[in-house]
Amino acid sequence: MTAINVRVDGASYSDDVEPRTLLVHYLREQLGKVGTVVGCDTSNCGACTVHLDGEAVKSCTVFAVQADGCEVTTIEGIGTDGRLHPMQKAFHELHGLQCGYCTPGMIMASIDLLRDNPNPSEDEVREGIEGNLCRCTGYQNIVRAVQQAASEMNGSAAAPEALGAQS
Ligand code: FES
Ligand code: FES
Repeated sequence: MTAINVRVDGASYSDDVEPRTLLVHYLREQLGKVGTVVGCDTSNCGACTVHLDGEAVKSCTVFAVQADGCEVTTIEGIGTDGRLHPMQKAFHELHGLQCGYCTPGMIMASIDLLRDNPNPSEDEVREGIEGNLCRCTGYQNIVRAVQQAASEMNGSAAAPEALGAQS
C-alpha cells in the first residue's frame, strides 16, 4: 500500500491505496464519489472524466498514486442541488442527455474545453468532446448545451469552477 494525500472536491483526504489502484476506483470505492462512472475501463468512452489540477483526464487512465498532492474535481464538486454549474444547467435545460451515463464525463470535458476556448464554434465543440462517447443523443443537444453554457459563462463574472470545488 502507498499513502497518498489528495484534495477532492475541496476536501482533503489521506489514504492508503494499492499502487495499481486506478483513480476512478479510488474515487468511487474509497471516497464514495459514484457520480464519476466507468463506461469502458479502456480509455475510450470518457465517462470517467474528472479534472486533475484543473485539466480534464480520464480517471481510468490515471493511477490514484499519480494524484498524490493534487487537486481533483469530480462532477460532484462543481455545483449543488440548489446551484448548478452553468454547464449542468445547460445540459438540463437543453436536454443534453438521455440515459445520462456519459453526462458526468461530458460535463467535465466541456468545462475544460471552455477554459481553453471560451466561445467555441459547433465544430470546435464537437472536436473538443470527441474523446467522450454518447450512445443516446446524437450529440446535437450536447453541442447546443455547451454553447449555451459558454454564453452564460462569458456573460457572468463567476469563474467556471467557482462553485465550491476550489475552496
Ligand atoms: S471508463 Fe474511462 S474512458 Fe471509459
Ligand atoms: S445520454 Fe446515454 S450515453 Fe449519453
